[in-house]
Amino acid sequence: MELDACIKGRRSVRAYTDEPVSKEQIETVLEAGTWAPTGMYREPLRFVVIEDKNLIRYVSDETKALVKQAMPQMVKQFSTKEDIICYNVPVLILVCTEKDAQWSQVNLLDSVLATQNMFLKAYELGLGTCYMGFIALLNSKPEVLKKIGIPQNYDMTVPFILGHPKTKQGAGKRKKPNVLKWIK
Ligand SMILES: Cc1cc2nc3c(=O)[nH]c(=O)nc-3n(C[C@H](O)[C@H](O)[C@H](O)COP(=O)(O)O)c2cc1C
Repeated sequence: MELDACIKGRRSVRAYTDEPVSKEQIETVLEAGTWAPTGMYREPLRFVVIEDKNLIRYVSDETKALVKQAMPQMVKQFSTKEDIICYNVPVLILVCTEKDAQWSQVNLLDSVLATQNMFLKAYELGLGTCYMGFIALLNSKPEVLKKIGIPQNYDMTVPFILGHPKTKQGAGKRKKPNVLKWIK
C-alpha cells in the first residue's frame, strides 16, 4: 500500500467480526512494531497477546469499574453491560516494558512509536486497530495484571485491539498543521 494512503486511510475501529486474526498476521503486526526507533536502541518492548474472549471481557469489566471510580461523570455511560471498552474484539495486545523509573518516559515513547507502526501495518493487512487508553488504568491493579499475563516487574504501556473490521471505515478528517513559529 502506498504510504500516504496508509497514513490517511487508517481509522480507529470499534466494531469487529468474530473472525479470528491468524497467528501469522499477529506476528507480522508485532514485527512492524519492532522496527520503530527506540531510545538508546534499548528495544525494551515486550508484548502480551490475548485471544481468550473471556479474558478480554474480564479486562473490559475491570477497566469499566476503574473508569467509573476515576471519572464520576462517566458512571452512566460505563454502567452498560455492552463491551464499550474492547468492543468484543478477537485480539487484545498489551505493549509492556520492564519497570524502571529512570526509563519510564522513554519506554512510553518507544511503545507509542511502535504502536503507530503496528497500526499502519495492520491497516495494510486489512485489519482494524484502536488504541485503548482506558485499559492502562489497570496498571493500578497488580492482581488484574497478574491474571492477564503481565509479570510483576512490567508496566503495561500501550493497550490496543486488533481484528477484522465489521464495516469499511469512513474517511478521516484533520486540521491543517498548526505551526506556532517557523524561524529562519
Ligand atoms: C492515547 C489515546 C488513547 C485512546 N483511547 C481510546 C479508548 O480508550 N477508547 C477508544 O475507543 N478510542 C481511544 N482512542 C482512539 C481515539 O479516539 C482516535 O484515535 C481519535 O478519535 C481519532 O480517530 P482515528 O484514529 O479514527 O483517526 C485513543 C487514542 C489515543 C491516541
